[in-house]
Formats: sequence, C-alpha cells, structure tokens
Amino acid sequence: MKFAHDFLFGAATASYQVEGAWDQDGKGPTNWDEFTKIPGKTFEGTNGDVAVDHYNRYKEDIALMAEMGLESYRFSISWARIFPNGTGEINQKGIDFYNNLIDECLKYGIVPFVTLYHWDLPLALEKEGAWLNKATGDAYVEFAKLCFNEFGDRVKHFITFNETVVFCALGYMAGAHPPGIQNDPKKYFQATHNVFYAHAKAVIEYKKLNQFGEIGLSHVFSPAFGVDDSEESHFAAMHANQFSMNWFYDPILLGKYPEYVVKQLQEEGNLPDWTDEELQTIFEAAPLNDFMGLNYYQPQRVEKIQGDVEARTITRENSTGSPGNPSYDNVYRTVKMADKKYTKWDWEISPEGFVGGLEMLKEHYGQIKLYITENGLGDEDPIIEGEVCDIPRINFIKEHLGAVKEAVRRGVHIKGYYAWSAIDLLSWLNGYKKQYGFIYVDHQNGLARKKKASFHWFKDVIATRGEDI
Ligand code: NOJ
Repeated sequence: MKFAHDFLFGAATASYQVEGAWDQDGKGPTNWDEFTKIPGKTFEGTNGDVAVDHYNRYKEDIALMAEMGLESYRFSISWARIFPNGTGEINQKGIDFYNNLIDECLKYGIVPFVTLYHWDLPLALEKEGAWLNKATGDAYVEFAKLCFNEFGDRVKHFITFNETVVFCALGYMAGAHPPGIQNDPKKYFQATHNVFYAHAKAVIEYKKLNQFGEIGLSHVFSPAFGVDDSEESHFAAMHANQFSMNWFYDPILLGKYPEYVVKQLQEEGNLPDWTDEELQTIFEAAPLNDFMGLNYYQPQRVEKIQGDVEARTITRENSTGSPGNPSYDNVYRTVKMADKKYTKWDWEISPEGFVGGLEMLKEHYGQIKLYITENGLGDEDPIIEGEVCDIPRINFIKEHLGAVKEAVRRGVHIKGYYAWSAIDLLSWLNGYKKQYGFIYVDHQNGLARKKKASFHWFKDVIATRGEDI
C-alpha cells in the first residue's frame, strides 16, 4: 500500500527552537527569552538567542527541505515578531519575514502549515498574567486575525495552539516552563480553559473570513494503558485518559468538557472560573474545527497508586515525559516497564501504542480528520567518519509510519505525517544535545548544515509514497 496522493509528508519546527534573531528587526522579548536566562532552568543555560539561526538562513533550510522532497513544512509564528508588546503596535518587518518564509516554501511547492502559538508569548503579556489573564486570549485573537489577513491567501492550514497540556502543566504544575509555578492545579486548569476559549474565538473569526482553508489545534497524543489487566489498572488508564485526553480533546471536538473531570474539579475546588458565554462559544466553535493535530511520541503506562504517595521532586529531567510521576491528584502514576523499549531520555518507543491509541480515538470521537503534526526520536546522533548515521531515527520513523499506515487501513482518517523535526533545533530544556532533525547543524562550525542518513532515507520514502513501509 502506498500513502494516498493527498497525504502530506512533512516535517516541523517551532519559532523559538529554530529562529534565533531574538531581538532582530524589531522583535519584542518573549517569556522564553527571559525564562532561559534564569540560572538552572535549562541544560547548561542554553537558550534560543541564536538557536539555529533559521531567521537568517531560512532560504538555505527551505532549499534543503525541497531537496528532501518535503511536501509540507510546519512552522510557528513568533507572536512577538509581529506584535512586539503582544498587542497594539505592529512590526511590519515581522510580517515581512513570515511572508518571505511562506513564499519561499511555495516557490518549491511546499505547503506551509502554520502554528500560531508554539509557546513563545510576548513578555509584556507574560508580565500581565500570561494565560491566567483573559486579556491574553483577547490579544491572541487579534494576533490570529492579523495572521489570517496577512497570510491566509497562501496559508491554507492553521494550527491555533501547540500542546496546551505541556505549556500549562509545565508552567503551572511542574514549574519547568514559564511562568515556573509549581503544584497549582487551580491555575493549571484555568489556563487550559482560557486557551480553549481563545482557540474557539480564533476558529470562529477564521471561518468568518471565508478563506477556504482549514483550522485546527495540535494536542499531545499520549494514550494511557494500564500496566496489567487488573481492574485497578483499567481504572487508572480510564482516569488518566479522562484527564490527559478528554479534558483537552472534548472542548475542541465536542464543544464541552468531560463530566467525569468536571465533577472531580468541582469537588476539589479546581474548576476554572468560566462564564456561560465562554462555554457557549466553545460549543459553537466545535463543529467549525476542521482537524485535530496529534503529536505522538509515546503512550503512558499507568498503575493505580496504593496508599501514601512517596514524594518525588519534579526536576527538569523527569518533568518532560519520562515515567515515574504521580498524577496531580495522586490517583495513578506513570511507570517504566521492564519489557518495553525506551529512548535515552526514557521515552517509551511504541508504534503499537500509537495504533492502539488511534483506534481508541476513533471509537470515542468517530472519524475526525487527523494530521500527525509531530513524531520523532530525540537522540544523540552518532557521527562516523564525518557522516551523521542516525539509523535509530530511521528505524523509529519507519515503525511509526508503519503504525500510521495500519491505522489508515483500519479506517482512521489521517491526512498527513510531520516528522519532528525538519532540522536539529533547540530542545526547550535539553539544549542541543537532544537531536531530532533530518538536517544536522554543526555548532562547532558556524552552524553549517549537513544532511543526515535519515535525510536520504526520508526522501526515498516520500518519492515512493511509503510503499516499502
Ligand atoms: C513537542 C513540542 O511541540 C516540541 O516543541 C518539542 O521539541 C518536542 N515535543 C520534543 O520534545
């Protein structure tokens, strides 16, 4: 089986992780420009001031993507390049940059797939309370509208937000992302609701413009499975899926929050402060949402917590997906299992979990349109005689594309696959040590680009439409 001709083979990046040029051409500072300068927050104090300088080298990078045969490039827009203060004054040079980037993609027939928010919030809005302040949502909608008006003639795929669970959970529970707050579930759930409301308003605004493109949102897709077949493990998995999947997917796809979670939050006093108008807007926007983007790296293996929970200090290393953490309500914990395979960062490698999760999604939400907006292997790539031999990445992507194929065969409606990432980039917390790209960046040699083994392999996959997968 080949992938259909309208299935997009792509790769992704995010502004803060690749662009650099943090204060070039009138860009305003962001939450991440500030956060990464706080000692101890990132691996060896790495930050995105320069990143891989995509802002200045985008032509070279897009040419390489074109050489690889990429059909689509998913990138994000840095809000602070366009509105340096988050709202108000507009920086034309920021608009020009994204126009150039889009045009460069189109020059090669590469479909631009644009994420509006991939975590870099203008600092002025961060100072005013970030996503806890409803005014941030209003400013976001203005920013989104400007992007639709400026870029929507050529961009036909918009993602409103990337991975709400990550920037909210790490921002308000683990304290590992800005604003660095720990263990505050009330704030965590409030921030997620404010994001969903902003998403809903942006979707409604987009549809008013009749641009005949599509709009959706990208979520983490980390389906939970019990560690064994016991009733308790089934319960743990159900509970985990309610809190990490349904809470996030239901408002977007069904226009309402899952009752199971709402009931618990009500009992705990953690229910967000919301208005009828906000809930109604979320309800009205759901049928207008065109697709869901899924970022799949690994499933969660969960077990029910018995008795007292041992204290675990959340650190930079264990807050970003590695197993071992109890849920915020101490109902379950994620577990590393002896019979599973893991990456160097302890993320499980499970193409089977991918297929299983996609089936679960189909059962619950029906045949929604999906894009795999991220999937890939974080690794320290071996360099042998000057060549980047990222064979583990080839194997990883091969297995996961195989899982996508299998899911399509079983009737899951998937329209594209975006590897994370197009090029090696800054890992938010792990610096440049954790690589994901098809293109290597030599930090010892003026950020020179080099094609990895996976570059040639993926080129062949695209050319043959994945026939041999
Ligand atoms: C998801 C995020 O969207 C991306 O920014 C990040 O680098 C990858 N996961 C890998 O952790």
